Amino acid sequence: MVTIDDGIIASYRRLVSDLQAHNHYYHVLDDPRISDVEYDGLMRQLLLVEKQYPQLIKKDSPSQRIGGAPLPEFNQVQHTVPMLSLDNAFSVEALRDFDRRVHERLQDSVKVSYLCEPKLDGVAVSLIYKEGMLVQAATRGDGATGEDVTANIKTIKSLPLKLMSDLPPRLIEIRGEVYMTRQGFNGLNVFVKERGEKPFVNPRNAAAGSLRQLDSKVTARRPLNFCAYSVEQYSDYGSPDTQWGMLEYVGRLGFRINPDISFAVDIDACESYCNSLFTRRTLLSYDIDGVVIKVNDLQKQKLLGVLSRSPRWAIARKFPAEEAFSQLVAVDFQVGRTGAVTPVARLSPVFVGGVTISSATLHNADEISRLGLHLGDTVVVRRAGDVIPQVVRVVYERRQKNSSLVLFPKFCPVCSAPILNHPSEVVARCSGSLRCSAQVKQAIKHFASRGAMNINGLGDRLVDKLVDAGCIASIVDLYDLTLPTLTQQERLGDKSARNLLNAIEKSKRTTLQKFLYALGIREVGVNCARLLAKQFTSIEEIMAARRNELLSIEGIGPVLAEHIQVFFADPKTYEIITELQRKGVHWPLASVDEVRDISLHGQVWVLTGRMESMSRGEARNVLQALGARVSDSVSSKTSRLVAGSGAGSKLKKANALDIPVFDEKQFLQFIADT
Ligand code: IVH
Repeated sequence: MVTIDDGIIASYRRLVSDLQAHNHYYHVLDDPRISDVEYDGLMRQLLLVEKQYPQLIKKDSPSQRIGGAPLPEFNQVQHTVPMLSLDNAFSVEALRDFDRRVHERLQDSVKVSYLCEPKLDGVAVSLIYKEGMLVQAATRGDGATGEDVTANIKTIKSLPLKLMSDLPPRLIEIRGEVYMTRQGFNGLNVFVKERGEKPFVNPRNAAAGSLRQLDSKVTARRPLNFCAYSVEQYSDYGSPDTQWGMLEYVGRLGFRINPDISFAVDIDACESYCNSLFTRRTLLSYDIDGVVIKVNDLQKQKLLGVLSRSPRWAIARKFPAEEAFSQLVAVDFQVGRTGAVTPVARLSPVFVGGVTISSATLHNADEISRLGLHLGDTVVVRRAGDVIPQVVRVVYERRQKNSSLVLFPKFCPVCSAPILNHPSEVVARCSGSLRCSAQVKQAIKHFASRGAMNINGLGDRLVDKLVDAGCIASIVDLYDLTLPTLTQQERLGDKSARNLLNAIEKSKRTTLQKFLYALGIREVGVNCARLLAKQFTSIEEIMAARRNELLSIEGIGPVLAEHIQVFFADPKTYEIITELQRKGVHWPLASVDEVRDISLHGQVWVLTGRMESMSRGEARNVLQALGARVSDSVSSKTSRLVAGSGAGSKLKKANALDIPVFDEKQFLQFIADT
């Protein structure tokens, strides 16, 4: 074993802490104390020492921000405290209503003061620090479960890998936004274009795309920033009593706090802030889509509580949606899987709401009549945040003479079958069903999709080509595809074609639930397919099911029952199902996809002893990823102990307390099973 000189250790530690401090000055406080050249010099020294003495490398060393080995996929992370979203206020009145509700709930005649925070347009993330070290970073996902992006988050220099505190809390979760400044975004796009790649549409997409890279070395090269805006599950410190105090505390831990945040004595002050920020928004260095207004008093926040999706103590005052003028070039009528005909406006490209749009849905025939569209019309288009672009109105004054009125077609533009309007529906449908190639294409795409037969490698474009070339005309034909047919297709190599054939072969073995979903019965989603597969054991029983039998299933109403019966009454359906079965499609597995609760949420695990196959840190990560808390000591609260070789006192204590124990082999089996 090489012993390292104390002097080297001391100078290494100094280098680490100096670099950390300069990082903080530069990236968090916007107040660099040394030049870039000097910083690079220090960094080079650090890398040199670390190369020579790798055993010295600290987890929070600035060198650890360069990214690691690519991941095969992101792990799922359960949020201990759900990540909520915000209610929106699109008008001054809505903002005042919010204030009124707050006062009513608090039954408080005293004034309520607020904190106004620019609503950064980026990606929300949660960061968990244990004993001061960053141990897990996750995206919001659906609010309950997100993706583990720890490796990527570590590359962001405006957040600390280790909290700046001598007495850090044992556990603290910091939430905030990962975003890109406009300057960072523009620089990135110059670089991207130089390499002949497709530029990012806006800073938000660029931030989201960078954070979802499986290769953290790529993320490390992206100009990402992080701004903290809240704290959850903190322990071990005197709690601040206001949102403002909490942000100050987070700032002291080493995070960047938005300098444009402002205190507001009442809702009037919030409104002035919103107006002023709205006029200044283009001068800011980053994109925002509104202002988040939060009750400043944390005690009051608690009293107000949360609803299922959003807290009652905060609201997002959204800026008016951006509008722009464009020209209606054409209207396409797209035919979906169930024959629904949707009109889509083709527009001359305009930049609005942060993206260039060149098409917008016109929803249905009623919308076309409401707008009274003529080809070539100047139209106002609107887009707010993630909302689908909309055509708001026509500028009649600019209408050209002799322009033709847009009419909803009477016959399908793809197969020429009549388009029918069912009196109870707003949507019009092509009556061509499986004779219409548009419906066939969509049906095949749905059949092959992930929740259905899961045929990997059969992308939308390939389906279009195969149908257009006459190679397939229904889902049944997929099982007759051959290597020569596939390799004849443009840009489909021998290897991909073979992989696809394998995937098709593999799809023959499925579950009844997946098969039912794959058939694409109207309104029958994964959930309904599951209900059916659970209730009936065979497809024959479902085909023969009477209306009352279907209605007796909780979750199936008269409309669904009708769709199911109509579908199975069609002789064509019977033919397709028998053909598929003849080609080998079967469901030997459980009829319903098992959804096992693999979460260890709420459990406390303890690791002890040495394992052959993984380090303690790796085991800890696995358990945390499954939602368990990993503790260092055994107590009556311990859910399970994992005892490697040489386990001693902890194992004894666990046995005494009757706590279940896994040895290494059992632990590995458990992980493999989950
Ligand atoms: S507070 C329950 N503060 O807006 C509180 N959110 O629409 C929720 N956001 O998912 C978050 N800046 O991504 C909060 N200063 C800020 C914010 C902010 C941006 C985003 C965040 C959140 C979304 C909610």
